Amino acid sequence: MIHFENVGLRYGMGPEILRDLTFDIPKKSFQFLTGPSGAGKTTLLRLLFLSLQPTRGLIRMFGRDITDIPRTELPLLRRRVGIIFQEFRLLDHLTTYENVALPLRVRGKDESSYKTDVLELLKWVGLGERINVLPPVLSGGEKQRAAIARALIDRPEILLADEPTANVDPPMARRLLNLFLELNRLGTAVVIATHDLTLMDQVDARRMILSEGHLDIHD
Ligand SMILES: Nc1ncnc2c1ncn2[C@@H]1O[C@H](COP(=O)(O)OP(=O)(O)OP(=O)(O)O)[C@@H](O)[C@H]1O
Ligand SMILES: [Mg+2]
Repeated sequence: MIHFENVGLRYGMGPEILRDLTFDIPKKSFQFLTGPSGAGKTTLLRLLFLSLQPTRGLIRMFGRDITDIPRTELPLLRRRVGIIFQEFRLLDHLTTYENVALPLRVRGKDESSYKTDVLELLKWVGLGERINVLPPVLSGGEKQRAAIARALIDRPEILLADEPTANVDPPMARRLLNLFLELNRLGTAVVIATHDLTLMDQVDARRMILSEGHLDIHD
């Protein structure tokens, strides 16, 4: 589904943050992306979300070389990727329901076509009772789950999550992990960036380990 070959990335004239990354992310796979703070986990997720272009190397996504894709087509491809940012990025003046529905609303979809989906998804992440409240009122774990629901509302083929358990206690981390595992069982590929060892130890999953610009993969 995704193929990287000798990919390198530097910001501006800075040092190369990622060097010679060569790997695949298969359809329906589940993996952790780990490594020390500053190793480049968020940077790699941004490459996977097509919000950064590599400074060298080749990236193929869904069968296409991303350098051949016209800018105007990027949003279409990006729709196939769901992302949960490290800092949530929920809009504080919109309710939980409206935040989750936003990606569809901006595309001009009619509310009647998605209302049931949004409500069901919010129930699935355990926010059925928090539909009409604003994000500032939500707890860290609730915000995290609202961000998960928003990333999933467009049924992406791959979900990228950046430190999804950084702001929650261990039982909530376990619940979130179970959500990601269930999603993966339903057929969505999942990449979780984390340095939470206790989280990773709970599942026997592939680990992509970034260190000093290089990537090691433990299957
Ligand atoms: N927009 C940017 N411009 C310049 N340098 C950047 C930018 N974003 C990140 N960096 C640098 O790239 C390196 C990797 O950062 P990145 O955020 O990808 O690491 P990370 O592994 O996600 O870290 P953390 O675990 O703290 O979230 C860091 O040295 C950082 O300072
Ligand atoms: Mg990061």
